[in-house]
Amino acid sequence: GVTHLDVAVIGTGYVGTTTSIAFAAWDHKVIAVDSDQMKIARLNQSILPFYEEGLERRLERYRESGNLSFTDDLEQGITRSDVLFIAVGTPSSPDGSADLSYVEMVARQIGQMMDKYKVIVTKSTVPVGTGDKIKSIITDELKRRNLSFSFDIVSNPEFLREGRALYDALHPERVVIGCETETARKTMAALYEKVEAPMLYTTIRDAEMIKYAANAFLATKISFVNELARLCDKMGTNIMKVAEGMGLDSRIGPQFLRAGIGYGGSCFPKDTAALLNLAKEQETMLPVLQAASNVNRTQVSWFMERIHHIMGSLAGKKVTLLGLTFKPETDDVREAPSLKIIEQLLQNKAIVSTYDPQGMENVKKIYPQVAYKPTPYEALEGADAIILATEWREILDLDWTKVKDLIAQPYLFDGRNALVPSVMRNLGYCYVGVGIDGRGDYH
Ligand code: UDX
Repeated sequence: GVTHLDVAVIGTGYVGTTTSIAFAAWDHKVIAVDSDQMKIARLNQSILPFYEEGLERRLERYRESGNLSFTDDLEQGITRSDVLFIAVGTPSSPDGSADLSYVEMVARQIGQMMDKYKVIVTKSTVPVGTGDKIKSIITDELKRRNLSFSFDIVSNPEFLREGRALYDALHPERVVIGCETETARKTMAALYEKVEAPMLYTTIRDAEMIKYAANAFLATKISFVNELARLCDKMGTNIMKVAEGMGLDSRIGPQFLRAGIGYGGSCFPKDTAALLNLAKEQETMLPVLQAASNVNRTQVSWFMERIHHIMGSLAGKKVTLLGLTFKPETDDVREAPSLKIIEQLLQNKAIVSTYDPQGMENVKKIYPQVAYKPTPYEALEGADAIILATEWREILDLDWTKVKDLIAQPYLFDGRNALVPSVMRNLGYCYVGVGIDGRGDYH
């Protein structure tokens, strides 16, 4: 039979909201909790705090069906549920380590408010050993209250990608469950009953490590092709073809081999930094990951140097930046390479205009001196150079013949290798990609 569980998800950020919707879709009763009253008020009107295709409609549907509700009352969430998910943020501290203060605060509140046995699950990406910390915080609080019922801690990391969050949450490739008791294991199995994906049961610490390891590996894959791209540029070889040839080997696989201006977002930069920090604390080196992180940190500068090499000084030149978000189909600009590009363009006294389908509001707050245009065509008027930073479909599908008539000079720097070089060159553009053009001296 199908089990309906009472679930509370604490934290209505990206992961929390998407997780709540997935559990509601599987017919569990979900209370999503956040201390931010504004956020809750908006979620209660089915308005998401971020952009994600298809999510708002589901939100509305499950609110109406009664499977999903939102509250700022943590105690209500805790007492009415059997399974509690911690999905609050774990931002980077200045030293790169994950800041666990929100996680710890929620653990303390759970210990102060819980009234019977619960399964307490971390969804947030947390360093190895956090499960133990949460356990001891809750144990301490229960002792203080002279209560002695038991509880279980579980680590159940999330692997969803922004822009495909709902799909990934509903159709995971695997579910990793770190738990230590049979009761917890059974509860988690019931929770994911409807998922047709391998369930991997591990210790809590292994599950915590798997999340970091997976993200670090993907980041390394990207940085590896990015460093090869730099060499390809010198050698006159094409990283796109090289990656294609590599990816046909099933041991390598075709994914995450797209060279470009580097990875951004809320996960890869933060999680690699946190894992490096974790290693440092254990006096262990992770030289491969360290190098991957260095390549990513310098990739935009490398790309900008190529632009300077081709165009000379950018002072007074009009540069149009197409795309701002760290990837398409999101409004997220956290750690987006576009921010570094803007920074360097402004430093070089370029006149910057930009267009992005979703990310302009978020960048405007950081760089008010950039011209944000309502259409790509307006952003492109009189441009001396175009830089493509995010491969939005809308941007790739521009009428590039029309664009050609709007711009002053035909320099087109594709930071994502997303356009077809021969097509753009036939239209008369001086097209420069990442690691595909030889020395880029052909113009
Ligand atoms: C990532 C992981 O994929 C996900 O499993 C994890 O839970 C969270 O982090 P996300 O950050 O949403 O998800 O985006 P992803 O699609 O993985 O892309 C991350 C960054 O890498 C983007 O900036 C993207 O442009 C870049 N990237 C990705 C490349 O530069 N090349 C590639 O081949 C793939």
